[in-house]
Amino acid sequence: MAIKFDFSKAYNLNELEKYYGQGEENLEKVLNKNSEGSDFLGWVELPKNYPEEELNKIKKAAEDIRKKANYLVVIGIGGSYLGTKAVENSLKPYFEADDEFKLIYAGHHLSSTYLNELVKFLKDKEYCINVISKSGTTTEPAIAFRILQRELEEKYGEDAKNRIYVTTDREKGALKKLSLQEGYETFVVPDDIGGRFSVISPVGLLPLAAKGVDIDKLLDGFKKGQELFTVVNGKENPAIKYAIIRYLLHSEDNKDIEILVNYEPSLTYISAWWKQLFGESEGKDGKGIFPASVDFTTDLHSMGQLIQEGKRNIFETVIEVENPMEDIEIPFDEQNLDGLNYIAGKTLDYVNKKATEGTRTAHVKGEVPNISIVLDRIDEENLGKLLYFFEISVSISGYLLGVNPFNQPGVEEYKTQMFKLLGKPGFN
Ligand code: PA5
Repeated sequence: MAIKFDFSKAYNLNELEKYYGQGEENLEKVLNKNSEGSDFLGWVELPKNYPEEELNKIKKAAEDIRKKANYLVVIGIGGSYLGTKAVENSLKPYFEADDEFKLIYAGHHLSSTYLNELVKFLKDKEYCINVISKSGTTTEPAIAFRILQRELEEKYGEDAKNRIYVTTDREKGALKKLSLQEGYETFVVPDDIGGRFSVISPVGLLPLAAKGVDIDKLLDGFKKGQELFTVVNGKENPAIKYAIIRYLLHSEDNKDIEILVNYEPSLTYISAWWKQLFGESEGKDGKGIFPASVDFTTDLHSMGQLIQEGKRNIFETVIEVENPMEDIEIPFDEQNLDGLNYIAGKTLDYVNKKATEGTRTAHVKGEVPNISIVLDRIDEENLGKLLYFFEISVSISGYLLGVNPFNQPGVEEYKTQMFKLLGKPGFN
């Protein structure tokens, strides 16, 4: 298995056995679609049943985009962009060549400065737009699209409509209506897949394919994840173990915060995606574990103190990478003024691994239970497995907590208050 798990530093595994039944029962609810939220479980079997025709349509559109443009502006918020950004950032080089095809994100906040700068930046660039909104009415992407659509039309005239790709509901919503009216190429966000579970749908696949990500391999990873993590056997299935351990740490040991840790900064957006997945799925009815994230070793120099010695309400889940994409040797220095000769000849990744090991020992000693997830490398397939693992786990864990993991009623409240202040018709 190219993805390994170690739960032994988070919970006594012999003790855990008596809870497997509960985990299995809740996984069955997901697989049999017979519990709360079951009409949002379209993602569970999608990897193995992904329609070939849609995959081909996505690849064709991606190829067209790359022929026409150097940039694809991905307009979307929450589940409509985080999965894409998580996969893209994990795979792309830290320092990309200027002439690489690039994704640019918009509509994921309301910063006027950002959008203004983007408008100016795009003036002399060749670009297309992929606007992604299941509801088709979310304010942030709607505003960004209105502004960028106008820019695109001013720049390309009639041809602008061939540069707009819309990912939205099959029938409903303003975007669908507009697409029909303007003749934009459209992709469907399936009815039974919520935003945070939608990366393996045109929501994620179209921009990722345009970026050059091998979406067949990503889908293969999801398929393998489906094989591995839907096994109804607590002893065999790490997704069940992860869900149960989190639940027990929270309910028995008062651990209210889970931090997702990485030692490879390219994984930062995996954490952002994970925070939405767990936060939005579990945080309701006065319940939930607060999902936080840190990038180590960077944040050991800012958050390390609190994690080591602050309120003991934290546990950590660490994503480790066995083989880095690149490594570099630490050279010997005759003068040794920096005192580093004791590691001369070792590689930087060797040091990173020792930091991981040392930090784990320190944190476990400091009563921070540690769950470890090890990828043998960062690639499309492992990312697919990892994302599917978290999606299945959060479903089991939501049911364990006694909430519906597939809705997000609380997200509406800020919108209501904002709309009142903005004077949106119907909100006074
Ligand atoms: O997971 C979710 O449902 C949300 O994060 C949505 O993805 C987000 O609010 C964007 O919604 P929409 O795609 O309808 O614009």
